[in-house]
Amino acid sequence: MLPFMCLVLLLAGAYASTPKEKSIIILAGQSNMSGRGGVHNTTWDGFVPFQSQPNPSILRLAANLTWVQARDPLHKDIDIHATCGLGPGMTFANRVLHKDPGLAPLGLVPCAVGGPMGTKISEWGKHMFLYKQLVNRAKAAREAGGLIRGVLWFQGESDTVNEVDARKYKRRLMNLFGNLRVDLGSPSLPIVVVAITSGQGPYVETVRKAQLGIKLHNVSYVDAKGLPLLQDKLHLSTPAQVRLGKMLADAFLTQQHVTSPSNNISSP
Ligand SMILES: *[C@@H]1O[C@H](CO)[C@@H](O)[C@H](O)[C@H]1NC(C)=O
Ligand SMILES: *[C@@H]1O[C@H](CO)[C@@H](O)[C@H](O)[C@H]1NC(C)=O
Ligand SMILES: *[C@@H]1O[C@H](CO)[C@@H](O)[C@H](O)[C@H]1NC(C)=O
Ligand SMILES: *[C@@H]1O[C@H](CO)[C@@H](O)[C@H](O)[C@H]1NC(C)=O
Ligand SMILES: *[C@@H]1O[C@H](CO)[C@@H](O)[C@H](O)[C@H]1NC(C)=O
Repeated sequence: MLPFMCLVLLLAGAYASTPKEKSIIILAGQSNMSGRGGVHNTTWDGFVPFQSQPNPSILRLAANLTWVQARDPLHKDIDIHATCGLGPGMTFANRVLHKDPGLAPLGLVPCAVGGPMGTKISEWGKHMFLYKQLVNRAKAAREAGGLIRGVLWFQGESDTVNEVDARKYKRRLMNLFGNLRVDLGSPSLPIVVVAITSGQGPYVETVRKAQLGIKLHNVSYVDAKGLPLLQDKLHLSTPAQVRLGKMLADAFLTQQHVTSPSNNISSP
């Protein structure tokens, strides 16, 4: 009897200490996803609004592929050639957990790179550094115990400068999403795209139309229209990032609930 009870206790202990599978979210794109909120004259002001506060159930995959507690600036060791500030990631994560605690713990995988000059979608081609880094980090995150539940994509502003880039944007974005779904072995991988409303050049409408015109299953949109910019007129401010984080969370949750039968909101 005693050995049996010991075994039961041992198993119970092992079960209790088995970490729950993480809900992995990939953050990708350029500077506004990386985060420049609160950055003035290449210095971050350090202000973290209450919506973006750290939470023990929100982790971040550091550049060295270990999980650490997440806090802004989430991209500081990934987008290393620029001063990072506040992005949408922490507000997104806090709101997702508030509305659907069953998704805890969340594992954020920062992969956005803006650098000092911005990055174009041509830099996210299958054999390019940014793409390979994203895939490697996503796989490492999953191997440590988790399910990749979605990708948040905010990029396109640097493709508004040149007409050829703008015209090729749609094809390149579709290729990127297709490649990711194949390489991560997740053919229905949910993706939320931020539609840009201004950019670094004149072809904003072309890029925006391309983003909104992608009719792929499990791809949804939020609109950055009207979000306040910093004095640099280039980047979203901290309050704008908080608003964007909320919109991303709501779009992400709608997608999860529509697509996952266990969370089917219309079921009785
Ligand atoms: C940034 O630098 C400019 C010019 O040097 C100065 O006018 C401005 O007040 C500075 N802004 C902040 C927030 O420090
Ligand atoms: C990995 O990076 C994190 C965050 O920068 C750091 O806290 C941790 O000590 C690093 N771990 C290793 C094994 O280098
Ligand atoms: C969306 O993804 C889920 C899995 O994440 C899948 O079950 C569902 O069929 C997908 N929806 C469509 C329309 O393909
Ligand atoms: C950041 O996002 C805003 C809102 O869409 C946009 O006006 C701006 O051009 C973006 N900045 C960069 C550098 O991508
Ligand atoms: C959700 O549930 C409703 C009613 O039970 C059902 O008709 C619908 O097909 C379900 N949708 C999904 C995506 O599972």
